[in-house]
Amino acid sequence: MRQRLVAGNWKMHGTRLTVTTLLKELDASAAVISVASEVVICPACIHIPLAEHILRNSSIKVGAQNAYHEPQGAFTGEVAASMLAEHSVRYVIVGHSERRHVFGEKDATVSAKFVAVQSQGMIPILCLGETLKQREGGVTRDVVLQQLDAVMDRAGIESFKEAVIAYEPVWAIGTGNTATPDQAQEVHGLIREHIAQADSKISAGVRIIYGGSVNTGNAASLFGQPDIDGGLVGGASLKAQEFISICSVEE
Ligand code: PGA
Repeated sequence: MRQRLVAGNWKMHGTRLTVTTLLKELDASAAVISVASEVVICPACIHIPLAEHILRNSSIKVGAQNAYHEPQGAFTGEVAASMLAEHSVRYVIVGHSERRHVFGEKDATVSAKFVAVQSQGMIPILCLGETLKQREGGVTRDVVLQQLDAVMDRAGIESFKEAVIAYEPVWAIGTGNTATPDQAQEVHGLIREHIAQADSKISAGVRIIYGGSVNTGNAASLFGQPDIDGGLVGGASLKAQEFISICSVEE
């Protein structure tokens, strides 16, 4: 039985004040929301120590949105996975579509980050997803499996024992155009089947979460699909009550 995971991706939002308020509100409901889901919040890097402090006794875990793959060195502006690991970070998002499309990250970089995160004892949340043009061109399967294979080839199938996959169609992120439960399930099923070809046990255990305009109105029908094990939530995770209800949905 895979435990549902709901991760909030706060992206580049928040101030010390708003982040503190949001964290306290979430923490006050931690006992309730953690019944249905494992809950993770991924604030901007500079707010991680604040989150670590406020959530020190909480069941809500702290995640990061990115990590650099080199352990140290002349990489101005970057944060190493080992630096995040020092701050009770449990999960790190890698290969988010904004990293791929705004910052030009390629599969090779995403794979290196995945390995670096695991080498520090943290769990990567590997994002995969096609653009609208790719979907309309009928190449969704090829695109998603190519992104997945890049990591499987580099990190090995065993690495998926300690990893989460997030299917995030690029056209659904921040647009309000959520994939329908059937559309999402179809791709989640493909991903799981592909992993099963390498190892059926690992495939049955790996959590594949959906991201792209998840909200209170669609979370239950998405999470109710057989291969959807939770969500990676952007905009809606910045509103405490909305995020709490997404984490608490019953299937
Ligand atoms: P969204 O973002 O929920 O605002 O669409 C999801 C994400 O980018 O992870």
